[in-house]
Amino acid sequence: MQGTAADRGGFARLWWGYAGLGLILTAGIIITALLMRTPPVPQPVAFNHRKHTGELGLNCEFCHVYVKKSAHAGLPDAQTCTVCHQTPQGTSTEAARVTALLAEGDPLNFNKLFALEPHVFYTHRRHVGIAELECRGCHGDIAETERPPARPLVRIDMDFCVDCHREQGQTLDCNACHR
Ligand code: HEC
Ligand code: HEC
Ligand code: HEC
Ligand code: HEC
Ligand code: HEC
Repeated sequence: MQGTAADRGGFARLWWGYAGLGLILTAGIIITALLMRTPPVPQPVAFNHRKHTGELGLNCEFCHVYVKKSAHAGLPDAQTCTVCHQTPQGTSTEAARVTALLAEGDPLNFNKLFALEPHVFYTHRRHVGIAELECRGCHGDIAETERPPARPLVRIDMDFCVDCHREQGQTLDCNACHR
């Protein structure tokens, strides 16, 4: 009988030992995952896609000028915003800040959010200009965002490209995408 109680004590210690180790491992995995996340992409002003594309009805090409013509869609610069924000627009403090920044001659350098490694060749001209694929399919609901996303809304990796190419009978040749 005494032996069993001691066994139980030993079992309890062992159990708490494993539980503790499990907790430490879980915490370790969470911390590593957080550290390995890509860093957030900063932007000079809190641009609001929903307001400009939805309420104001501007089309994507107004700001992403080369989306049908070139590899890169292009990001707008201060000149594009000046068209309207040279004079105050709306009542928000962020809109007032845009007008103030433009008056100071700030170039409003927007940073790229979706970016492939340089060894991959991708062109908007083929996918948007020719195949007429929707932006949403690759970029998610960015047109509905009210402030710049810190990270891409869709993870575009090799499987993402190859899955669609397989479905649509497009090239799977390594050299078509890696040049
Ligand atoms: C088939 C997938 C796909 C579609 C469809 C697509 N894009 Fe992209 N887009 C990408 C990829 C991939 C990148 C990153 C390219 C790189 O880094 O070389 C990108 C990058 C961008 C960029 C950053 C600047 C640049 O060109 O690198 C903008 C802006 C952009 N896309 C806008 C659009 C808009 C607007 C549409 C719809 C009219 C659209 N895209 C449709 C895949 C797509
Ligand atoms: C065709 C005119 C037009 C262009 C071009 C334009 N905007 Fe605006 N923008 C407006 C108007 C109008 C408002 C105010 C809408 C409101 O308050 O309802 C606004 C509001 C804003 C706001 C405040 C958003 C909020 O959430 O309150 C920001 C920030 C902004 N614009 C940034 C920009 C930037 C950056 C560019 C250039 C890439 C740009 N805008 C280009 C017309 C424009
Ligand atoms: C008035 C200008 C304006 C219009 C119109 C506009 N955008 Fe943008 N777009 C921006 C700005 C500024 C950024 C960078 C800040 C941000 O992410 O909000 C951006 C960023 C993006 C990006 C991320 C680019 C990157 O660096 O990877 C995508 C994708 C995009 N826009 C898609 C669209 C689509 C789709 C439409 C049409 C439905 C659209 N945009 C219309 C100004 C605009
Ligand atoms: C339809 C386009 C496409 C095709 C076809 C393609 N790749 Fe990729 N590949 C990509 C993209 C996109 C990435 C991710 C780049 C990034 O992370 O920015 C990638 C990444 C890679 C990487 C880097 C490791 C990784 O997984 O990120 C290797 C290695 C690679 N591809 C090899 C190949 C080989 C070998 C083939 C032929 C069997 C091939 N690829 C076909 C688009 C393609
Ligand atoms: C939603 C479907 C879809 C996705 C996602 C997609 N593609 Fe494509 N891709 C197509 C279609 C459709 C074409 C044929 C366009 C045409 O008719 O010219 C094409 C054509 C191409 C070509 C030209 C091939 C040739 O024959 O020369 C390349 C290169 C390419 N894609 C690379 C990529 C890369 C890299 C990615 C990922 C970043 C990607 N694609 C994602 C549908 C897609």
